[in-house]
Amino acid sequence: MYEDRVRRQDLMDRIVSAEEAAAMIKDGMMVGMSGFTRAGEAKAVPMALAERAKSDPLQISLITGASLGNDLDKSLMEAHVLKRRMPFQADPALRKAINAGEVMFVDQHLSETVEMLRTRQLGPVDVAIVEAVAITEQGGIIPTTSVGNSASFAILAEKVIVEINLNQSHNLEGLHDIFIPTRRPVRMPIPIVSPESRVGMPFIPIDPDKIAAIVISEKLDSSAPVADPDDETRAIAGHLTELLKHEVKLGRLTNTLQPLQAGIGNIANAVMHGLIDTPFHNLKMYSEVLQDSTFDLIDADKLDFASGSSFTLSQDRYHQVMADFGRYKSKLILRPQEISNHPEVVRRLGIICINTALEFDIYGNVNSTHVAGTQMMNGIGGSGDFARNGHMSIFVTKSTAKGGGISSVVPMVSHVDHNEHDVDILITEHGLADLRGLAPRERAPLVIQNCADPAYRDHLQDYYDRALKRGGHTPHLLEEALSWHVRLTETGRMN
Ligand code: COA
Repeated sequence: MYEDRVRRQDLMDRIVSAEEAAAMIKDGMMVGMSGFTRAGEAKAVPMALAERAKSDPLQISLITGASLGNDLDKSLMEAHVLKRRMPFQADPALRKAINAGEVMFVDQHLSETVEMLRTRQLGPVDVAIVEAVAITEQGGIIPTTSVGNSASFAILAEKVIVEINLNQSHNLEGLHDIFIPTRRPVRMPIPIVSPESRVGMPFIPIDPDKIAAIVISEKLDSSAPVADPDDETRAIAGHLTELLKHEVKLGRLTNTLQPLQAGIGNIANAVMHGLIDTPFHNLKMYSEVLQDSTFDLIDADKLDFASGSSFTLSQDRYHQVMADFGRYKSKLILRPQEISNHPEVVRRLGIICINTALEFDIYGNVNSTHVAGTQMMNGIGGSGDFARNGHMSIFVTKSTAKGGGISSVVPMVSHVDHNEHDVDILITEHGLADLRGLAPRERAPLVIQNCADPAYRDHLQDYYDRALKRGGHTPHLLEEALSWHVRLTETGRMN
């Protein structure tokens, strides 16, 4: 019945129910599961596991590519299955449990997880659960809408459970490029020289004997909630465009730019969408998540090619892209996140990296993860992989949050994800600060005047003027540097 999906007769007798597969997962195990920013996660087995845990309690360490859809993190957390979770999440209920100290969350650069598993600094992985379009004649696993960490999970795990999703299109076959770096310290270079380089195989190569169970599922990926561009994100996109045009004028870039990377979320999506109305053309992306804006740019004939690790699309876009996939397929590759985010490749290709900050400070340090220094939002994701190694490292954010009660430009960030050495350009709706080649004392006036909201500008300037009197390479009033966050914690507002 599933011969076009499970193309080896000897694997047919491993087709079991989700409940039977979930029973293979034991208390204390480390489980590696497919799924990257709501795309291509295993669905039936984790749901069955959450159900089973209600009567048969167990706790696992769950590693994925990134965040999961279908409320899986919520269901697993509510069933108390999650003891440890890494390397990224974006679920409000899980976020609450993490901030209450109920789930141990390890927030990690997304390119690094499998390197640590491979070198046994983490692990071992007991079971891998991977969503697939099909299993090939050779026993290879064809992933679905994400690759994430699935390939290395399947290669390293003792047992593999494959979820064949009948609603994930056959057209996805041939899209993936699975390349696994050789062992260190004798590793060869990764031979990617442009976003369209194909250097691996279209399936995950594993020994079919390791496939312990095959589960048939039909549940689709969840869609991503995407907010339309607003005045502020349009203004941010405008400043980015001016910056890039200026680079072209100076002869440092051409109108085809260099490969682009854009972070997750509404702001990055809206900013990328803004590139439609620009003189730039024949663009390419070498990114991590391909959001709606990637397909908007392809449709507008602006983008020639996009390499990523997953598609994270709004509901309408998902159905339109899947229905019309033949038109897009030759312009796309999905890779393991270790490769989509690899420092070697990011540096080689000279990527223009656009990521989102929660807040940044007057010297250019960026906080992308912790509200008021303590409350985890989502995680660093791949932003650090790209920011540190890119050609230009750009961070965007709206200048205020929560109706103006929070300034995203602060005297000192309350948590550092990207330090001043990794950050080149800061942009808000008010303008941009180009920090390249500037010392801290040259950076602060630019950041304050160009990026801060007018309601906070004088306060920042006053802080900086008084700090200057104390002296130092990076002047600060240490007793006051985090007072804006203290006020936020105590009153719910910074002003
Ligand atoms: N303090 C407190 N909350 C803040 C804030 C600040 N300085 N700045 C933003 N927020 C809140 C917003 O109010 C919003 O809250 P809501 O969900 O309750 O409305 C939430 O953060 C998201 O902000 P939004 O303005 O909608 O931006 P976004 O959807 O673009 O997300 C990040 C911004 C930073 C949360 C998101 O990009 C992220 O998680 N980044 C880290 C990982 C990453 O960069 N990955 C990509 C690498 S390829």
